Amino acid sequence: MRRLSPSPFLLLLLLLLCAPFFSSLTTASDTLTPDSPLSDGDTIVSADGTFVLGFFAPNPNNRYVGIWYNKVSVPTYVWVANRNAPLLDRNGTLSLTANGTLVITANSSTVVWSSSGSSTVANPVAQILDNGNFVVKDVNDDSMQFFAWQSFDHPTDTLLPGMKLGWNLTSGLNRNLTAWASLTDPSSGPYTMAMDVLGDPQIFLWSGSTRTWRTGPWNGVRFSGIPEMKTYSMFTFQFVQNQDEVYYTFGLKDPSIISRLIVNQTGSTQRLVWLDQPRQWNLFWFAPKDQCDDVSPCGPMGVCNPNDSPICDCVQGFVPKYPTNWALRDGTGGCIRKTPLDCRNGTDGFVLVSEAKLPDTSSSTVDMSLSLDQCKAKCLGNCSCTGYANADVNGTGCIIWTTQLTDLRVWAFGGQDLYVRVAAADLSPMTEQSHHSGTAATIVIPVVLGTVLLISVACFVLKMRRKKRVKFPNSASFTNPYNYQDSDSKDLELPLFDLNTIVAVTDNFSAKNKLGEGGFGPVFMGTLEDGQQIAVKRLAKTSVQGTTEFRNEMELIAKLQHRNLVRLLGCCIHGEEKMLIYEYMPNKSLDVFLFDRTKCALLDWKTRYGIIMGIARGLLYLHQDSRLRIIHRDLKASNILLDKEMNPKISDFGMARIFGGDETEVNTRKVVGTYGYMSPEYAMDGVFSVKSDVFSFGVLVLEIISGKKNRGVFFAKADLNLLGHAWSMWKEGTSLDLIDESVSPKYSGDEALRCIKVGLLCVQERPEDRPTMSSVVLMLGSGSALLPQPKQPGFVSTKGRFEYSSSTSKQIASSVNEISVTMCEGR
Ligand SMILES: *[C@@H]1O[C@H](CO)[C@@H](O)[C@H](O)[C@H]1NC(C)=O
Ligand SMILES: *[C@@H]1O[C@H](CO)[C@@H](O)[C@H](O)[C@H]1NC(C)=O
Ligand SMILES: *[C@@H]1O[C@H](CO)[C@@H](O)[C@H](O)[C@H]1NC(C)=O
Ligand SMILES: *[C@@H]1O[C@H](CO)[C@@H](O)[C@H](O)[C@H]1NC(C)=O
Ligand SMILES: *[C@@H]1O[C@H](CO)[C@@H](O)[C@H](O)[C@H]1NC(C)=O
Ligand SMILES: *[C@@H]1O[C@H](CO)[C@@H](O)[C@H](O)[C@H]1NC(C)=O
Ligand SMILES: *[C@@H]1O[C@H](CO)[C@@H](O)[C@H](O)[C@H]1NC(C)=O
Ligand SMILES: *[C@@H]1O[C@H](CO)[C@@H](O)[C@H](O)[C@H]1NC(C)=O
Ligand SMILES: *[C@@H]1O[C@H](CO)[C@@H](O)[C@H](O)[C@H]1NC(C)=O
Repeated sequence: MRRLSPSPFLLLLLLLLCAPFFSSLTTASDTLTPDSPLSDGDTIVSADGTFVLGFFAPNPNNRYVGIWYNKVSVPTYVWVANRNAPLLDRNGTLSLTANGTLVITANSSTVVWSSSGSSTVANPVAQILDNGNFVVKDVNDDSMQFFAWQSFDHPTDTLLPGMKLGWNLTSGLNRNLTAWASLTDPSSGPYTMAMDVLGDPQIFLWSGSTRTWRTGPWNGVRFSGIPEMKTYSMFTFQFVQNQDEVYYTFGLKDPSIISRLIVNQTGSTQRLVWLDQPRQWNLFWFAPKDQCDDVSPCGPMGVCNPNDSPICDCVQGFVPKYPTNWALRDGTGGCIRKTPLDCRNGTDGFVLVSEAKLPDTSSSTVDMSLSLDQCKAKCLGNCSCTGYANADVNGTGCIIWTTQLTDLRVWAFGGQDLYVRVAAADLSPMTEQSHHSGTAATIVIPVVLGTVLLISVACFVLKMRRKKRVKFPNSASFTNPYNYQDSDSKDLELPLFDLNTIVAVTDNFSAKNKLGEGGFGPVFMGTLEDGQQIAVKRLAKTSVQGTTEFRNEMELIAKLQHRNLVRLLGCCIHGEEKMLIYEYMPNKSLDVFLFDRTKCALLDWKTRYGIIMGIARGLLYLHQDSRLRIIHRDLKASNILLDKEMNPKISDFGMARIFGGDETEVNTRKVVGTYGYMSPEYAMDGVFSVKSDVFSFGVLVLEIISGKKNRGVFFAKADLNLLGHAWSMWKEGTSLDLIDESVSPKYSGDEALRCIKVGLLCVQERPEDRPTMSSVVLMLGSGSALLPQPKQPGFVSTKGRFEYSSSTSKQIASSVNEISVTMCEGR
């Protein structure tokens, strides 16, 4: 491949001047005809200029004919014609014979490659289409329906949008992807990705003759083995199965995106997307991912769960076949029945495996006309049936297995329901009836309902108007128990607790029940009569936060419902006494763990990543998804509470602000927030917007990853704070050193880097450079990780932290530790 360095303008001039004389040297014709062979150095370009076909040399010894992207600056070959028959010098040619066969000739006589399986056409012409398909067709046929030959039928290692991976069952054509042998050698390597049409079709990755990964069958929406497929909103995925064809293909909703699916040299399949900025391929998705993605690590009738240790378990009603090996963590022997099936007596039943990747379907039978109940009946009626499932996630179709169930795994979410046949003796009373995985939900709902009922009964129901309290002790109030009106006649749906109850459950606000001191007063713990634990935030009578903030928080949070926001159970107002009652969070707040050298060891990487994701989702809800548009304004580690499972919940809405629909930023005279988490524009100029929260989120992410406070921790490098420190490491390419040593080395480098990058993007100096929370959530998830390069963060130094860009003088109240401060403009 020739590389020219002169500026495009000069090049164009040169081309224009010299074209008549050197036409054979610089041919960029768009077709190949029988009388104009393509010699080494010539190229053919698609009409829209996306793809180029020509000769290239991935290593100094061999030359190949291939297709690459014209617009992608990293040489990326999507197709290679003569991958197993390289040309050894520059004397090769690609030509089209009169009957429409493509031929690569070395030394003008030796044919090294020819297009196989092509049909003849009278007036052949070869051209490369805009989608990268190199086709031979009749020159007079513009239908683009019939091709004598097309490169899309003979893929190399790359699936482009519109290409089919799979079979033409009539002709027996099997389009599969085979990896390059090495980065510089396009010859066929050992790894192949191919459609298997046995039973219910599935795609397998092969290493030689060994299967290494299975997509599972198509379940109407996605492959059963790729639960994350549904989140890829940029793509359309299609699976076609009819009498003529079985194939998988994908398309792009936005044609400006460049994406490809490949099998790489080490046997993984990767989806890559091109980033214009910073001009590189970004890994969008890959498989296999974890131990359970191996083919059947837990053997027949075993279930693999990557979040369990050991990862292998047996389906209910089965026990390990080789207990010794099993104990030594070799699960491949699988499991055997505790009790033999009793088919004739008809007493067998089924146990449910929920969130499952359907077992190998190579020998399963599919009947799309049956419902789930009919499917069950069909399975019971066939003594060799071992299990059944819906073929389509939307609840139709029937797959039954008549062999052992192999390669069964489960996910935390995104799997399917699978019913495994067991003898009556191995059925637990609950499982057969329950068709849903939601056993937890069925228990939780009564509890929650019970609690709500109890509170509602315990509640005094009040009506407030102009700060006057009116009591409705009559039964009528219970018809609309959660309704009271405030001075602005806004509806507030919030239970009110009786002061006596609160005094009783907190043991008269005793010191032993005190959980801590918030910005506006102490927080106490209590246990209601029904056993529910609550946290009572008691507004200090002397608090600066006066009634306004209290009402603010109450109004705001009463309208918010999200699993990553702390839930307000009610409030209690009695004269001067104002209290908010929350669900109790047994694990207290994030800072308790994060900045404690012993406790931080409890936060492993998975937990930290989960916390980051949870906060991001909670914040996204505040910014966008709730009915209101809310800016929290005081996001920090001590405002992130943790529940039993260490799920994060954003709390403390005392300073939050609701935005009007069209407002995007607001200037405030009163600057509130916490040092170290405040964005520059807010701390300096009092301008806040959703991007100020994004800044605080970025600080939080970096703190969670590093286990260090942004504020008050002095790093080796002079006066850098955490942001400055993270930024300098990023520039040096040593970002992973930022990670808390109590996590290392057990973390995912890819996730960690992504988090650090997102953290840095969020703390960029200019608010307009920072991403919105919806992009943050996308970037963090396995979804569209089109991450730009971060620019320098705001506030990188511990010294000049509050040096003002403007001359406006503002006074800042002296701050103590991490307590929220209020800064007022000195006017
Ligand atoms: C190949 O090309 C080179 C230079 O163009 C020439 O010297 C050489 O003789 C050619 N070899 C053959 C076998 O045609
Ligand atoms: C086309 O012609 C080539 C020789 O020019 C021959 O080898 C090939 O078999 C022909 N193909 C068909 C389909 O007739
Ligand atoms: C082309 O000819 C040269 C010299 O005769 C030879 O070394 C080389 O192997 C030939 N190339 C091919 C692909 O046959
Ligand atoms: C499959 O192959 C047959 C036989 O070559 C051909 O007639 C048919 O058009 C092909 N089907 C598709 C969808 O390409
Ligand atoms: C891949 O396709 C080629 C050509 O159709 C075929 O020979 C090979 O067996 C296929 N490999 C697999 C694993 O299906
Ligand atoms: C759900 O099933 C019906 C019936 O098989 C089918 O027509 C429909 O396309 C399916 N919907 C989805 C989203 O798969
Ligand atoms: C192949 O893909 C996997 C998964 O993304 C990756 O870990 C591995 O490094 C890749 N191999 C090569 C040679 O790029
Ligand atoms: C089937 O039922 C019969 C009579 O109820 C009983 O004697 C027999 O043991 C049962 N068979 C099995 C395999 O349990
Ligand atoms: C059970 O199902 C298998 C697979 O569909 C089938 O081959 C077999 O004939 C069935 N057996 C009976 C008794 O129906």
